[in-house]
Amino acid sequence: MAKSEEQIKAIAEHTYGTWKAQKGWKKPTYIKDAAGVYMYDTNDKRYLDFSSQLMCTNLGHKNQAIIEAIVKQAEKLPYVAPVFAQEALESATEALLTVMPAGLDKFFFSTSGTEANEAALMIVRQYMSPSYKIISRYHSYHGATVAGMSFTGDPRRWFAERARFTLEGVCFAPDAYCYRCPFGLNYPGCNIQCAEYVDYMIKEEGNVAAMLVEPVPGTNGRMVPPPEYFPRLRKICDENGVLLITDEVMSGWHRTGPVWAVQNWNVVPDIITTAKGCTNAYTPVGLTVTSRKIADYFEEEPLIHGHTYAFHPLALAAVAPSVAEFKKLMATGLPQKVSPYLARRLYELEDRHECIGDARGIGHFWALEIVKNRKTKERFNTKADKFRKALMTDGIAAEAMKLGLYMQAWYDTLIIAPPLIITEAQVDEGIEILDRALAIADQEVVHTDTPGARSSEAFGQGK
Ligand SMILES: Cc1ncc(COP(=O)(O)O)c(C=O)c1O
Repeated sequence: MAKSEEQIKAIAEHTYGTWKAQKGWKKPTYIKDAAGVYMYDTNDKRYLDFSSQLMCTNLGHKNQAIIEAIVKQAEKLPYVAPVFAQEALESATEALLTVMPAGLDKFFFSTSGTEANEAALMIVRQYMSPSYKIISRYHSYHGATVAGMSFTGDPRRWFAERARFTLEGVCFAPDAYCYRCPFGLNYPGCNIQCAEYVDYMIKEEGNVAAMLVEPVPGTNGRMVPPPEYFPRLRKICDENGVLLITDEVMSGWHRTGPVWAVQNWNVVPDIITTAKGCTNAYTPVGLTVTSRKIADYFEEEPLIHGHTYAFHPLALAAVAPSVAEFKKLMATGLPQKVSPYLARRLYELEDRHECIGDARGIGHFWALEIVKNRKTKERFNTKADKFRKALMTDGIAAEAMKLGLYMQAWYDTLIIAPPLIITEAQVDEGIEILDRALAIADQEVVHTDTPGARSSEAFGQGK
C-alpha cells in the first residue's frame, strides 16, 4: 500500500537517520519489498540495486534457502546463551571451516563488522601485550564504536575525535592508491613504497602489535593494490613480529572473486574479520577468525570478551545456508562470467564521461572516481566536504535513484557493487541509467583531452 508523506515523515521524526545531519532524514524512500537484484517502494517503483544495499546482500534479495533456515531456527530455538553449544553454532562452524584459508580455524561470533574488529582488538592486545599499537590506513572504515572509529581513516574519525571518542595507539599508513600515489610515484617504478613505508613505520613507532587493512578498501575507494603489495606487507609483518589482520567485512564473500579478497594475492593473514555477506546480511553476524597459534595462547589466558548476543542462534542460522548458496552460485560460473563484462561496461562509461577520472575495481567491487578535471585530478568534493556540503557524487546517486537505480556514493566515488547474481542484461540496465545520471557532473567538468586512468587495468584486474 502506498504510504503518505505524513506517514513517512512520522517515522523520520522519531528516529535518528544514520551518518547525517537530521535535516537530511525527512523523507526516506519507504521500501516495501525486494527480490533478486531489485527492490520496490510503496508506489511500486522498481529500483535496480547496484550496491547490494550496503555492499552486503551479495546473494541478492530474498534468497529462499537462507530465509527458510532463519524461520526454522526461530521456531526451534531462537535464543540460548553463548555459554552453551547449539545446532546453529555447530552448522555455522562446520560451514565456515570449509571456506577459511588453511590455519585460520578459531571463531568468535558477534553481531556486526564493527564488533568483529572490536573482538580482534581485544584478542590482539591481549596476545601481543605489551605491544599495543595498531597500524591502519587512511582510506579505510572499520566500524562505528570507539575501536572501529579509531581504526578508521575516513572523515567519520574526524568527528569521533572531536567528540573524544577514539583510542590511543592507532597510527595510519599511506594507501596503495596508485591513481593518487601518496608518494607521487608511478607503478612499477615505485618499489611499492606504500608497503615499504610500513616497515619504516613499524621500526620507528615501536610497540606495534598489528596492521589492520581492508584488502580492497570498501567505502573508501576500491583501490586494487599492485600484485606485489600484499606479499610484501605479509613479509614486513613477519620480519617485525607484527600480526596482519585483514578486514573482509565488505571485501569478503566473493565480492572480489575468491571468498576472501586477500586470496587474490595468495596471502594468509593472522586474523580475518568479516560480517555482511556472511549471512547475506539477513541476520546480524560479525565474525573474528584467528590462527591456531593465537587460539592456543588463550588455552591458559582468559579471553576477556563476550556479550549476550554472541553466538546468537537466530543470527548464526543464516551462516551455513549462505555458505552453501555462495558455493552453488560460484559453481554456475555466472559471477565469473559477468564480472569482466561489468568491467568492460564501466570502462566504456569512463570513455564516454569526462567526469570519471578513474574506473577501478575487481570482481563485483568497483569505483568510479568522479573528478572536475581529469588532467589535474581535481575533485568536485574533498574529504572535508563529507557530511558538511551537498556533494556531486550524492547528486549523481540521487538522479540515478529517480531513474530507478540505487547506488551508494562516497565523497569522491560511486560504489558499483551489485549482487553477484546480476546478469549481463541487468548490468546493461544499470549502465544505461548511470549514463544519464553522470550527465550532471559532465556539465560541470573542465574540458581537457585527457583520457581516464583505468588504474586497475594496469594490474590486469577485472578483465
Ligand atoms: C571494511 C568494513 N569494516 C567494518 C565495517 C563495520 O561493519 P558494521 O556496519 O556491520 O558494523 C564496515 C561497514 O561497512 C566495513 O565496510
